[in-house]
Amino acid sequence: MAATGARPRLAAAHALTEVLDRGRALTDALDGLGDRLDASRDRAQVRRLCNRVLRNWPALDARVRARLRKPLARRNRWIHFLLAIAVDELDDAREPAPAVVHAAVEAVRAGGAAPMAGLVNAVLRTELRAPPGPEPGDDDVLRYGMPGWLARRIRTDWPDDADAILAAGNRPPPTWLRVNRRRTTVEAARAALEAAGLPCTVDARLPDAIRLERPAAIGQLPGFREGHLSVQDAGAQVAVDLLDLAAGQRVLDACAAPGGKAAHILERADVELLAIDRDAARTRRIETGWARLGLSGRAAVADAARPDPWWDGRPFDRILVDAPCSATGVLRRHPDVRWLRREADIEANAAIQDAILEALWSLLRPGGLLVYATCSILHAENRDRGRKFLERQSDAEPVAFELPETRAVDPGRQILPGSLDRDGFYYLVLRRLPADGA
Ligand SMILES: C[S@@+](CC[C@H](N)C(=O)[O-])C[C@H]1O[C@@H](n2cnc3c(N)ncnc32)[C@H](O)[C@@H]1O
Repeated sequence: MAATGARPRLAAAHALTEVLDRGRALTDALDGLGDRLDASRDRAQVRRLCNRVLRNWPALDARVRARLRKPLARRNRWIHFLLAIAVDELDDAREPAPAVVHAAVEAVRAGGAAPMAGLVNAVLRTELRAPPGPEPGDDDVLRYGMPGWLARRIRTDWPDDADAILAAGNRPPPTWLRVNRRRTTVEAARAALEAAGLPCTVDARLPDAIRLERPAAIGQLPGFREGHLSVQDAGAQVAVDLLDLAAGQRVLDACAAPGGKAAHILERADVELLAIDRDAARTRRIETGWARLGLSGRAAVADAARPDPWWDGRPFDRILVDAPCSATGVLRRHPDVRWLRREADIEANAAIQDAILEALWSLLRPGGLLVYATCSILHAENRDRGRKFLERQSDAEPVAFELPETRAVDPGRQILPGSLDRDGFYYLVLRRLPADGA
């Protein structure tokens, strides 16, 4: 028990140090752990431990600080995170308390800090004997584990929904799958999953979606290697319907990597797709996905805000702008995001979003549709971008559309996180009007 219990906790403490002290994304930090972990079960446990601490970091941090008489030396900072993990595990009570304390003490030794083992043991034993701390009251930072700036923005933008949004940001997310209907049917894919012991449900509103009732190893799902399935949230699966695709159209996916929506477009219609992204490494993943799914399009590394070098002058019938954003709609999926973003990022994103919209508009043929999407819930990246764009472009009109359980924000509609178990997404559909007199 000692060695196996210590390893994932030590790895999680190092990953949290990377995220919270060095600003690294959790996925990158976990990838960087390399041979510290040797089984996928370890990996899943490390991710779970990290996610839980990131969702409740302010309260756990405060409790650990209160137990330490003085802050730990810089080189031992990872032990602060190890203590936060153990304190959370004691609350969680998934494992017996003595096993949690023992594993933490062993992890300190395994991490080369044996002289600190006594301190860790003493802190956790005191924590075990301590009466429960005060209720967090209505302090959003402690209650929802959110940075103050983000909680304030959510309350300003969504005064009636803020508590539901903040709570949804801390619920573990479901796994939504997208069925590649070029290769199978939703019913056949569902039957194969159920036959493999994976209960799942379909959603009548989404023609390609299946929701798994519990987490599973994706690579091992029946039909995954054969390209029958991909992982994609229900909120993201809406984009393809709003594009109103038809065979023969020329389609641009302007912020396409890693390629979820681009693949969905190709699964749905025989279109000529150009998928671009500014990030070369992420762009390679678009083509890897197409190969697995048996799809073909053209992918290129390119800047959507500067079309001159890559546009061949032929207009597009459809453009999807799945813009870079704060990702505040997917906090439940990425609990690190709240600690990696800064408030100043929102304004910087808005400038990029404006630049991309403006640059691409003239590439759309008159009568064509542009779908602007973000996985943000902040008006500054959504509604306000749409308003600004419509003020400047006299040949643009918003297209009304229905989407169940969403908020009309004029222009566009917002999916709030957790509604119908979807991630938070914003969608705006714009039609380019024919030129004056045409
Ligand atoms: C929300 S993600 C896109 C997700 C993707 N549509 C999917 O469904 O898998 C936003 C993407 O925009 C890209 N990006 C940011 N600025 C860009 C620019 N100026 N031109 C093209 N891509 C850009 C980022 O590299 C990132 O991959």
